[in-house]
Amino acid sequence: MIRLAIRLAAADAEIVLAELIELAPSGVEENEMPDGRIEYAVYGAAGELPALPDLEAAAGGALVEIVTSEVADDWDQQWKAFHKPVAIEHCGSRLRVRPPWAEASAAPSQVDLVIDPGQAFGTGAHATTRLCLKMLLALEPRGGCVDLGCGTGVLAIAAAKLGWEPVSALDHELESVAATIDNASANSVTVTAERFDLRRAAAVPAAPLVMANLLLPLLLDLARSGFDPHPPQLMIASGLLIEQADQVAEAFSLSHGLCEQDRRISGEWAALLLASEL
Ligand SMILES: C[S@@+](CC[C@H](N)C(=O)[O-])C[C@H]1O[C@@H](n2cnc3c(N)ncnc32)[C@H](O)[C@@H]1O
Repeated sequence: MIRLAIRLAAADAEIVLAELIELAPSGVEENEMPDGRIEYAVYGAAGELPALPDLEAAAGGALVEIVTSEVADDWDQQWKAFHKPVAIEHCGSRLRVRPPWAEASAAPSQVDLVIDPGQAFGTGAHATTRLCLKMLLALEPRGGCVDLGCGTGVLAIAAAKLGWEPVSALDHELESVAATIDNASANSVTVTAERFDLRRAAAVPAAPLVMANLLLPLLLDLARSGFDPHPPQLMIASGLLIEQADQVAEAFSLSHGLCEQDRRISGEWAALLLASEL
């Protein structure tokens, strides 16, 4: 299998992409390079790839670099092998997140989650997601739950499977909303997924549990903008570096009376469980 990459200035990208899609209708991979240029890549057997003169014509007057390299014939299988099931455990309760091509576990006591690692963030493997899942597993369901920045919907779907209801999942990316709807359906759970930009919101819809696996600036924005109709009873805040956790705990405590109940660490990451004093 050959990988054929075309590298060019970002300013020329749109016009070249339009032409390339004509030559390679089955799809083009797009990458941003460290030097600011854009790389488009197509894969195929040597005879199936667009010919070089066609590519140069597609690029018009733009200065392009064309690089070909060999990739293993089973690269799609290798990609699948990379996504392994992730098991999360708390006091004997277990949750397992797996891609659709991995077999369900035989253990009946284990909560089984199928998440397609399509285009959104959240296979369950990232430390920030695992910390959230571990904290979620330790909680008794007590009503509704909102997942802010849902990505694939992994946290929302886990909450629904564990008995939280109703579950709402919000993300500013369309791909995340679509992935969450698909994954919720694959897991036979009801999750309402909607497009929502935290940065533009006057206040964020809250429920008894809010889960927010976001980075520091967004969490601080959330502490500033607040919750509608009122702060949650419980909030899981993740996506924090260890040295940022105090700042986030303080922001939610001062503005919303949410106090730190638990802090978990994995590698350089920290997650907080915050609870209202009521
Ligand atoms: C670290 S990922 C977490 C994904 C998933 N919840 C998980 O735990 O694996 C953060 C998510 O927040 C979303 N996000 C980033 N900025 C946002 C914003 N301003 N409003 C809403 N969602 C946002 C991203 O699209 C991404 O899906």
